[in-house]
Amino acid sequence: MGGLLEGKTILITGIITDASIAFRAAAIAQEQDATVLITGIPERLRLIDRIAKRLPKEVPPAIGLDITNEDDLNALAGKVRELAPQGLDGVLHSIAFAPRTLMGPEAKPFLEGPGPDAAKAFEISAWSYASLARAVLPVLNEGASLVGMDFDPRTAMPYYNWMGVAKAALESVNRYVAREVGEAKRARSNLVAAGPIKTLAAKAIAGTATDDAAKLNQLNEYWDGASPIGWNVDDPTAVGKSIVALLSDWLPATTGSIVYVDGGASHNTWLPESFN
Ligand SMILES: NC(=O)c1ccc[n+]([C@@H]2O[C@H](COP(=O)([O-])OP(=O)(O)OC[C@H]3O[C@@H](n4cnc5c(N)ncnc54)[C@H](O)[C@@H]3O)[C@@H](O)[C@H]2O)c1
Repeated sequence: MGGLLEGKTILITGIITDASIAFRAAAIAQEQDATVLITGIPERLRLIDRIAKRLPKEVPPAIGLDITNEDDLNALAGKVRELAPQGLDGVLHSIAFAPRTLMGPEAKPFLEGPGPDAAKAFEISAWSYASLARAVLPVLNEGASLVGMDFDPRTAMPYYNWMGVAKAALESVNRYVAREVGEAKRARSNLVAAGPIKTLAAKAIAGTATDDAAKLNQLNEYWDGASPIGWNVDDPTAVGKSIVALLSDWLPATTGSIVYVDGGASHNTWLPESFN
């Protein structure tokens, strides 16, 4: 029997290291027999092509795509067509960014987050899901599947601040994208709400540079404790597999939706051991 994605061509955005969620998704998609194309931020294409050599199968050179650059967005469908005249059956949006004032060691308190910086976080982390959908629409095959990456924003949490607001916006953007790609191509659009995974982006969630590792460990401990089945920040396999499941034909009636891949931690109240 062939893999889950046999015969499908998938465009994967968001690889920057081999710890990127997008890297794991690309690897599992290839193991499931997909043909994979990748994009990367234009200023890091050589690095991204080097990282991509670690995938199980060869991929064409990464297509340069700064998700905020209209020229890149307008050129995307043509570049995909050159590499894959058969069109796309799936697309992964695995992109997020917030300026230093909003996340990381120099971040200001939530109330002092500058408006233009919050707008930048919104542009790259939420609006861009719609702009990617628009850019790929001409090369999207009937019944294709779009997937974006979420971090459950239903409650406020330390450090995540304006990125949490951007993720809440992304959830709404996803529902509107689902309407239009559904109508245009009977395509589906869904988000995977992942638990914390140790990537470049996650370091920003953890806060200050000096105690990054300790904070990530604390977050992991919390998540692992809150999850009825356990959680491991070092293993993005469950997230990658779930992305591939959504890209496959096995969730054919799910769209505009969110699949929680966080060990169930967001659906469980955690209290310290001493409470038991
Ligand atoms: N790591 C986690 O704990 C976690 C949890 C839930 C959701 N997510 C989400 O998963 C997605 C991928 O993040 P990751 O954790 O793999 O981190 P990562 O740092 O490996 O990936 C983030 C990607 O965003 C790309 N990017 C940033 N600005 C861009 C721009 N202007 N144009 C194009 N690409 C741009 C970066 O190049 C990078 O490849 C993000 O949406 C993130 O919010 C991450």
